Amino acid sequence: MDHFLYQDNALFAEDVRVSELARKYGTPLYVYSRATLERHWHAFDRAVAAHPHLVCYAVKANSNLAVLNVLARLGSGFDIVSGGELARVIQAGGSPDKIVFSGVGKTVAEMEQALELGIYCFNVESAAELELLNEVAGRLGKLAPVSLRVNPDVDAGTHPYISTGLKENKFGIGMDEAETVFARAQQLPHLQVKGVDCHIGSQLTELQPFLDAMDRMLALVDRLASRGISVEHFDVGGGLGVPYDAETPPQPDVYAAALLARLGDRKLKLIFEPGRAIAANAGLFVTQVLYLKDNGDKHFAIVDGAMNDLIRPALYSAWQNIIPLEPRVGMTRAFDIVGPVCETGDFLGKDRQLNLEAGDLLAVRSSGAYGFVMSSNYNTRPRAAEVMVDGDQDYLVREREKLAQLWQGERLLP
Ligand code: LLP
Repeated sequence: MDHFLYQDNALFAEDVRVSELARKYGTPLYVYSRATLERHWHAFDRAVAAHPHLVCYAVKANSNLAVLNVLARLGSGFDIVSGGELARVIQAGGSPDKIVFSGVGKTVAEMEQALELGIYCFNVESAAELELLNEVAGRLGKLAPVSLRVNPDVDAGTHPYISTGLKENKFGIGMDEAETVFARAQQLPHLQVKGVDCHIGSQLTELQPFLDAMDRMLALVDRLASRGISVEHFDVGGGLGVPYDAETPPQPDVYAAALLARLGDRKLKLIFEPGRAIAANAGLFVTQVLYLKDNGDKHFAIVDGAMNDLIRPALYSAWQNIIPLEPRVGMTRAFDIVGPVCETGDFLGKDRQLNLEAGDLLAVRSSGAYGFVMSSNYNTRPRAAEVMVDGDQDYLVREREKLAQLWQGERLLP
């Protein structure tokens, strides 16, 4: 459930009319709902309330400081994948001792930064990374807390670009190698083995792949225990899908109950790394129709938002609902909603039944995750502004980029 609903034929974000936001801040514009973010975070946290756990929001989904701060105030942990995300979390008031650091390519500088701050755990993704982390920790006189990300080799049944738990993917340590790498981790003097970790993909709409991964990971935990290697936590990663269209992904409570049942009486703290499930449906992307254009049978609505602002449709052929802020009565036609960027792939949606006129405002739903964070300046387009609504208040949480900012680091030849 989210807090974007129609009242009197106008779309509202909580108690604020979205068209008012478009007028006040201009378009294209990202609009987030604080109540929705909080609701989704609590859905996870409550689902595992009776069991030791930590919800580590995956920062990559939406790393705006205000979003991170709202979640930090709830007591959220964070899953980061770069020194940049680490700095953002700290800037937003997150606690280092609730941060897990994922990613296959951590640099020495990033390891140092995270060790100095005292993060909760490094999710180590290879034997080589383990050796390097041990060296860096030793040099700083620290003990690095580690979990090993193991690739359970299950098919998440999701888009190939966002499936990560198959052997052929670059992520994690193979199951056949895992015990050896754990044994090595335990020998290394500057590491402290804390957990096991997996993440099998994103936008999963079925429970079964999660359960298959859990079974394989728990069997590994048991094998490790019989070799005298004990772990405190099991990080199940992120990946729970959201309804973009008619998908019916499991709710967090159903997902958590199934995991807990599998866990049995093993005393493992559970860590979750949800990104999309918290942020996607807490955000809209608002854009204005510039022109209508007919090409024979085909109708185009050319809008002021483009693939540089929201790349999911172009990159993954992702379908996101596109709805008018103030629906018109009367006949609809099938429109391709396209942006001004000079690429055929620059579309936000195809064949959408809408009744449109130039000047109309549209909202692309489910844009709170992997929306603004994946935006670029392609075609020298300044990135959109971001606004957070809280009840009947709205706050500009990121200014629209100004042109001069786009080339401020560039230099002419002498
Ligand atoms: N943990 C790890 C280690 C991850 O790699 C990811 C996402 C997450 C957690 C969060 O997954 P989520 O709960 O959001 O599914 N840009 C793509 C999604 C890429 C996901 C990458 N990893 C998209 O727009 O669909």
